[in-house]
Amino acid sequence: MTATPPAGTPASAPVSSPVSACVPDTEPATPVIAIRDLHKAYGALVVLKGVDITALPGQTIALIGSSGSGKSTLLRCCNLLEDSQQGDILFDGEPVAWRGQGAMRQPADRAQVARIRTNLSMVFQSFNLWSHMTVLQNVMEAPLTVLKQPRATVEARARALLDKVGIGDKADVYPAQMSGGQQQRAAIARAVHGAARPAVRRADQRAGPGA
Ligand SMILES: Nc1ncnc2c1ncn2[C@@H]1O[C@H](COP(=O)(O)OP(=O)(O)OP(=O)(O)O)[C@@H](O)[C@H]1O
Ligand SMILES: [Mg+2]
Repeated sequence: MTATPPAGTPASAPVSSPVSACVPDTEPATPVIAIRDLHKAYGALVVLKGVDITALPGQTIALIGSSGSGKSTLLRCCNLLEDSQQGDILFDGEPVAWRGQGAMRQPADRAQVARIRTNLSMVFQSFNLWSHMTVLQNVMEAPLTVLKQPRATVEARARALLDKVGIGDKADVYPAQMSGGQQQRAAIARAVHGAARPAVRRADQRAGPGA
């Protein structure tokens, strides 16, 4: 294609076509990660319902959603730290090989998983709850064992605090079964239950008679 030379350009000077300038030199980049129709459930709790994401080289993608909506689950599935039940995950165009179906589905090729993982990194959401205790036990621990408060009172207040931070329904699960944000809220409930009340009591004592 021939383009009209800009004003002042000698007619004999080579001019590149504005159309050819828009045509990329190379083929479209292969996505570093492509997720297609990914489904994931924890038992009856369906978390991912057909997620599609394409990440090109150098691209930054933000996952935005309410607490418990499945952001970390998606990242863990992507890292093959969690099994998913349906859909495809491709790394640099290479699809993960699966065996089994639905709840029985797993990566089929350990060597492939190991190879893929060497090219992935993940910063985990931190939590500092006791992993061997339920959420309720975590929140009750300090008032029961350190402050020696009556169990019934401690439990009632712990449940009320968990309700207040929006995770009353998670009282009897273990931290690993909750989202990062839910764990953070459990940690807040534990901190309030274990520390705020004695702090108030000490202030009362320091105030002294007549204060
Ligand atoms: N191992 C598990 N077993 C059962 N349920 C789980 C497990 N891990 C997460 N969940 C549940 O799956 C849902 C999604 O959790 P996920 O950690 O993906 O949420 P999130 O979007 O990362 O939330 P946050 O913003 O609070 O970190 C939540 O309801 C959570 O309670
Ligand atoms: Mg999370």
